[in-house]
Amino acid sequence: MTTNIDRYAVFGNPIAHSKSPQIHTLFARQTKQPLIYTAELAEVGQFDQAVKDFIASGGKGLNVTVPFKEDAWACATQRSDRAQRAGAVNTLVLQPDGSLFGDTTDGLGLVRDLMQNHHIQIKDKNILLIGAGGAVRGVLEALLAQQPASLQIANRTKHKAVQLAGDFSDLGQIAGCGLDEIGEAHFDIVINGTSASLQGEVPPVPETIFKGDACSYDMMYAAQATPFMRWSSAHGARQVFDGLGMLVEQAAESFYIWRGVKPETAPVIKQLRLDFDQQNNTG
Ligand code: ATR
Repeated sequence: MTTNIDRYAVFGNPIAHSKSPQIHTLFARQTKQPLIYTAELAEVGQFDQAVKDFIASGGKGLNVTVPFKEDAWACATQRSDRAQRAGAVNTLVLQPDGSLFGDTTDGLGLVRDLMQNHHIQIKDKNILLIGAGGAVRGVLEALLAQQPASLQIANRTKHKAVQLAGDFSDLGQIAGCGLDEIGEAHFDIVINGTSASLQGEVPPVPETIFKGDACSYDMMYAAQATPFMRWSSAHGARQVFDGLGMLVEQAAESFYIWRGVKPETAPVIKQLRLDFDQQNNTG
């Protein structure tokens, strides 16, 4: 008998390996919120219809992941300022009048993971952000709000980095360049926002990018260290993190937007790490 329970879901393609159902189910259990959260595969080009069907079946809110964040932005009739600027929506909320409100929690997720979970200060630091796709666009406002000394975006395709830096230049000290233009510059915080790890690759950046006590952060995560994390450790990063905490933190903010209750993230991150350890030990 599930008909009266509020439904939530993550929509993506592919979606089978999403950790969001596990994360939100743990949040719901922890906060005693009665809800069901599932992963839904949407076909490319049919996102709007999939959302309508989901709402018709009792859906109260959605998370949206690759490749639908821009579609979600377009299907929201109202958006938060941060989603408006990011051009992407990862959280949709059904409004009482049946319309959809769009927000993005990715930037907050990254900043919370860096600052609260890893105790990394962003203020007055020099940051290198590698990549200029949707993942990077989604975190720029939140990073700049912490007032870093500078934020350099470097991308394989230079003009995208330059364009992105221009779009956010009113918010702080930000510049764009090609990966081959980083030169001798070095940074306190280096964030990999490319999808290179998915292909088992490391973006071609100079080995000199890390300052003495720099930290390196890959927005990707996996049961084992990503190629960028291994490369960072080998080239002088003092601390190296994956994006699992960001995933849980962005989920927590979505949960809060939907339910008005903030879940504890630490036990959920711990559980996911335990699952990874188990995966590694069983092969
Ligand atoms: P997302 O929405 O996940 O950010 P995207 O918009 O396709 O995905 O962006 C992918 C990013 O990863 C881009 O910055 C891409 O660089 P280009 O703009 O030059 O395509 C970057 N990227 C992907 N594979 C890469 C690789 N092997 N080396 C360096 N950069 C890579």
